[in-house]
Amino acid sequence: MAKRIDIGGLTAYYGSHKAIEDISMTVEPRSVTAFIGPSGCGKSTFLRTLNRMHEVTPGGRVEGKVLLDDENLYGPGVDPVTVRRTVGMVFQRPNPFPTMSIFDNVAAGLRLNGSYRKNQLAEIVEKSLRGANLWNEVKDRLNKPGSGLSGGQQQRLCIARAIAVEPQVLLMDEPCSALDPISTLAIEDLIGELKERFTIVIVTHNMQQAARVSDRTAFFNLSAVGKPGRLIEIDETERIFSNPSVQATEDYISGRFG
Ligand SMILES: Nc1ncnc2c1ncn2[C@@H]1O[C@H](COP(=O)(O)OP(=O)(O)OP(=O)(O)O)[C@@H](O)[C@H]1O
Ligand SMILES: [Mg+2]
Repeated sequence: MAKRIDIGGLTAYYGSHKAIEDISMTVEPRSVTAFIGPSGCGKSTFLRTLNRMHEVTPGGRVEGKVLLDDENLYGPGVDPVTVRRTVGMVFQRPNPFPTMSIFDNVAAGLRLNGSYRKNQLAEIVEKSLRGANLWNEVKDRLNKPGSGLSGGQQQRLCIARAIAVEPQVLLMDEPCSALDPISTLAIEDLIGELKERFTIVIVTHNMQQAARVSDRTAFFNLSAVGKPGRLIEIDETERIFSNPSVQATEDYISGRFG
């Protein structure tokens, strides 16, 4: 069976600065893959190459291939907008559209694609909010602004917005770093549920979180400041945290550097 995502020889630049170099790995369907590594090693950059967001940054350029179910996202004629619909993203800081209601926040992506029937909209919004474990908290105030929710609720709103368009892959860049421990656990539980339907890649600085939520963990590092980040190893999460193959991984997860 094809791997859901198959990345080969991926290098990404900001202008002349090479941020990550020659990354090859696969991501399995219906699983959670965690990206860990010290600040600046290129985790966010790499994540953004997986849905063609990297090239939105001025000077952003990518070499190599990213196959999603055997189709190269960087192939000729591939529309980046379609890619971003298929590979959704949740950011570090919850970023609901501030002037929009809770309902409209979740409906935003659907309205943009027009990929629904009018009478289905309310149903999809409810299903997405339920999927994000937020429905019970907001069902009586769907027409209130999304910005009126707590940080943890806003992040779940952003997850509801992301899953409303039924992406195949969900990328999450430190989705809990702005959240308190309770909201963090809520998001972690949610990730465990979402992986039944979606393929998830999450960047985290929290080693316990990587160990709790992910099936596989990839460790990234740079050989020196200013050098490009590289994938050091990827393996079953249990193995990475008990008996990694590379000394640098062991040093990082045990807090000896980074
Ligand atoms: N918009 C940008 N323009 C130029 N260089 C950038 C830009 N964003 C990131 N970089 C550089 O690319 C490299 C990788 O950055 P990136 O943000 O991907 O690292 P990271 O592993 O996500 O770090 P952190 O853990 O701090 O979030 C760094 O050297 C960074 O300075
Ligand atoms: Mg980052």
